[in-house]
Amino acid sequence: MYKFLTGPMFWLSLCICLIGMIVRFVLYFKGLSWQLDRVAYKAYPVQGFKGAMNSILKWLIPFGTYGWRKQPFMTVIFFGFHTGAILVPLFLPAHNLFLKEKIGISLITLNPVFADILTWSVIVSAFFLILRRISLPEVRILTTAYDYFILLLSMAPFITGLIARYEIGSYSFWLTAHILCGEALLIAIPFTKRSHIVLFFASRAQLGMDYAIKRGGMKGKGMAW
Ligand code: HEM
Ligand code: HEM
Repeated sequence: MYKFLTGPMFWLSLCICLIGMIVRFVLYFKGLSWQLDRVAYKAYPVQGFKGAMNSILKWLIPFGTYGWRKQPFMTVIFFGFHTGAILVPLFLPAHNLFLKEKIGISLITLNPVFADILTWSVIVSAFFLILRRISLPEVRILTTAYDYFILLLSMAPFITGLIARYEIGSYSFWLTAHILCGEALLIAIPFTKRSHIVLFFASRAQLGMDYAIKRGGMKGKGMAW
C-alpha cells in the first residue's frame, strides 16, 4: 500500500491536481461573456491589470478589505487556517525530503516547531469554521452535507499528518493513512470547491478589472459602458 501510494498514485494525484487546476483557471476566463466582459477588459489592459492586482492583494491582507473588517471572527479563523494550509504542505521538511527523493528538487523548509504550530492552527481554525457553519443562520442556510464533507476532507491530511508526526499508535498505519488523505485531497481539488485555490485568483482578478474599467473606475474618461 505504502509503495503504491508513494509510487504511481503520488504521480497520478499530483498530475490530476496540477493539470486540473490549470484547466479550471482557463475555463473560468473562457466562460466569461465576450460581449459583456472580455471586450472591455481587452481594450483597457493597464487599468484592468491594476484593478486585478489591487483586488487580489487587498483580499490577501488580514482586515485589508471592508468584507474582512465586517467579519473579524471569520478573518481570524480564515487566516489561522490558510497560513498553515498553504505553508505546511509546501515547506514541511518531511515533504521536501520526499520531493527531493522523487523529483530531485526541494524548497526552503519550515522550522519543525513552527510547522507544528501552523498545523495546530489549521486544525483549531477548521473546528471554528465548522462551528461557524452550524451557528450563523446566514451561513447555515447555504450549507449542505457536501460542505461538511469537503471541509473534513481538507482537514484529514492535517489531522493524520500530526498523528503520524507525534507517533501516536502505529506510525506506519498513520503515515499511510496520511498519504492516502493527502492524495485524496489533491485529486479532489480540481473537481470540488477546493478549486478555489486557483479560482479565488480568477474571480478576484475579474471583479477587480470590472470595477477598474466598467463599474465606475473609468468614469469621465470616455468609457462607452
Ligand atoms: C501527497 C503525498 C504526501 C506525502 C508522501 C506526505 C508525507 C508526509 C510525511 C512523510 C510526513 C512526516 C510524518 C512524520 O513527522 O514522521 C508528513 C507530515 C505532514 N503532512 Fe504530509 N504528505 C503528503 C501530502 C500532504 C498534504 C496534501 C497535506 C496537506 C494539505 C499534508 C500535510 C501534512 C501535515 C500537516 C503533516 C504534519 C506536520 C507537522 O509535523 O506538524 N501532507 N507528510
Ligand atoms: C492560495 C491559496 C488559497 C486561497 C487564495 C484561498 C482562499 C479562500 C477563500 C477566499 C475562501 C472563502 C472564505 C469565505 O467563505 O469567505 C476559502 C475557503 C476555504 N479554503 Fe481556501 N484558499 C487557498 C488555499 C487553500 C488550501 C490549500 C486549502 C486546504 C488544504 C483550503 C481550504 C479552504 C477551506 C476548507 C475553506 C472553506 C471553509 C468553510 O467551509 O467555511 N484553502 N479559501
